[in-house]
Amino acid sequence: MGTQNRRYGIIRNIGEIESLRLSMQSKLDSYKSIEERRKLGQFATPTSLARDIISFGLQHLDFSSDIRFFDPAFGTGAFFSALLHEIKDNKTIEKATAVEIDPLFANAADSFWDNDGVNIINSDFTNIMPDGYYNFIICNPPYVRHHLIASESKSRINNKTKDISGVKLSGLAGLYCHFLLQSIQWMDEDAVAGWLIPSEFMDVNYGEAIKEFLLSKVELFRIHRFNPEDAQFGDALVSSAVVWFKKRKPTNRNVTFSYGGSLLMPHESKDISVDSLRQEQKWTRFPCQPQRSVNKSSSKLKDYFDVKRGIATGSNDFFIIEKSRIFEMGLPFEFFRPVLPSARYVKTTEINSDEQGNPILPQQLFLLDCRLSEDGIKKDYPRLWQYLESGKNNVANGYLCKTRKCWYFQEQREAPIFICTYMGRVTDGRNSAFRFILNNSNATVTNSYLALYPRKNLLEKFDDVPSLKRTVWELLNEMTSESLQNEGRIYGGGLQKIEPKELLNIDVSFLSGLF
Ligand SMILES: C[S@@+](CC[C@H](N)C(=O)[O-])C[C@H]1O[C@@H](n2cnc3c(N)ncnc32)[C@H](O)[C@@H]1O
Repeated sequence: MGTQNRRYGIIRNIGEIESLRLSMQSKLDSYKSIEERRKLGQFATPTSLARDIISFGLQHLDFSSDIRFFDPAFGTGAFFSALLHEIKDNKTIEKATAVEIDPLFANAADSFWDNDGVNIINSDFTNIMPDGYYNFIICNPPYVRHHLIASESKSRINNKTKDISGVKLSGLAGLYCHFLLQSIQWMDEDAVAGWLIPSEFMDVNYGEAIKEFLLSKVELFRIHRFNPEDAQFGDALVSSAVVWFKKRKPTNRNVTFSYGGSLLMPHESKDISVDSLRQEQKWTRFPCQPQRSVNKSSSKLKDYFDVKRGIATGSNDFFIIEKSRIFEMGLPFEFFRPVLPSARYVKTTEINSDEQGNPILPQQLFLLDCRLSEDGIKKDYPRLWQYLESGKNNVANGYLCKTRKCWYFQEQREAPIFICTYMGRVTDGRNSAFRFILNNSNATVTNSYLALYPRKNLLEKFDDVPSLKRTVWELLNEMTSESLQNEGRIYGGGLQKIEPKELLNIDVSFLSGLF
């Protein structure tokens, strides 16, 4: 059905339409808990952002043809509404199609846009074939992380993405990556696509395949990254970017990268050469920082340390017990080893120890770490056996405990000398979101920390000059947020996170001067 956009102005005022749509949106949102919304990535685009995106996209459309609009994750239609607002009088919407998986939203949107010629397909976008080709694809896809994609759908989605785009995505890629790549089959030659997606793909390993696709299969022309401090979607906790490309063989030598402010009025903007983009793994450096010099001789943390996540106990509430409680329950203390409280309760950067090697902290916690068989425990330690029995129905059946040889056996992890709190924010004059803790105790750590174990070369230096341990720790803490961020990632609201592999990759050339 052809749709004359002038009709909209006559029938209803677009400001009125948008405010009606927004009340429909908040009503539908209120029917669901945040967890339910997260499962389908149901976080709507704010009106002003949707209008900016549409306005920018329209400037790049070839205007010899009418608009064929497509939104693969429609919700209540923030982008279609913005299109009606932004479209100029001399332009026409020839066709508008949208997909929405949730019948609640699809039905409500269908009645709402009934007169306006939008064909709303109530289906899973990853499971349907195109009904035609479109020249204007705008989408805020569901930000559903890989582990929330149902396992029975995962391989089907992966295979389809590969068939359509030729890109084999890693299993760690979120649903939004598949949306972007699969949408290519709905695009006409020279069609313009604008994707509001998490900026994470620009830095992490699973994003490599997408970046390669954007550089070689289509013509990427602009990426705008919002300042993560002003999260676009507070409740979705992501830092967002808008990625723009045209479906055509790439001929451009540069791509415009912008940051902060708005898409139409960014705080910073720079043309980055495609060569630089091929060489630099962290695209979030652009446009504010230059490409890193390729310095193969610089030393990385992995030259000095092994990094492991702390222990995943299977149930901290059950396996980690306060010292006084262990005695109250009459449990044998020899089966407990000291463990640090989780990172948010440890405010210091150095853990001192008592004569037994236990950390001196207000909260004295111990991990139940017994390698005896159940029969042996039943015979010699009846109290401990009773305690384990109390966890038989729930704790023992948890995912982690069930996969162990014996459900209460803990991973054997030595007390690390250095510990990193791998998630945090830059606050209160601290120059980094992460802390490196010097652990002088025998306490091990749970997975709210990363444990750093010096490699042989470094251990030998520590043996020769024990004070070096302290110097290394001080230097690690002097690292600025920026140098850690080069490897780690940043989320909406300024939350920063660094994974073991990323920590191993940070440049610690400052350590080589010590030895
Ligand atoms: C981030 S919201 C964006 C909604 C709207 N376009 C906007 O910008 O406000 C993503 C939408 O995609 C829908 N969705 C989630 N999974 C989908 C799928 N597999 N196929 C189609 N729609 C899906 C969700 O129900 C949700 O309405």
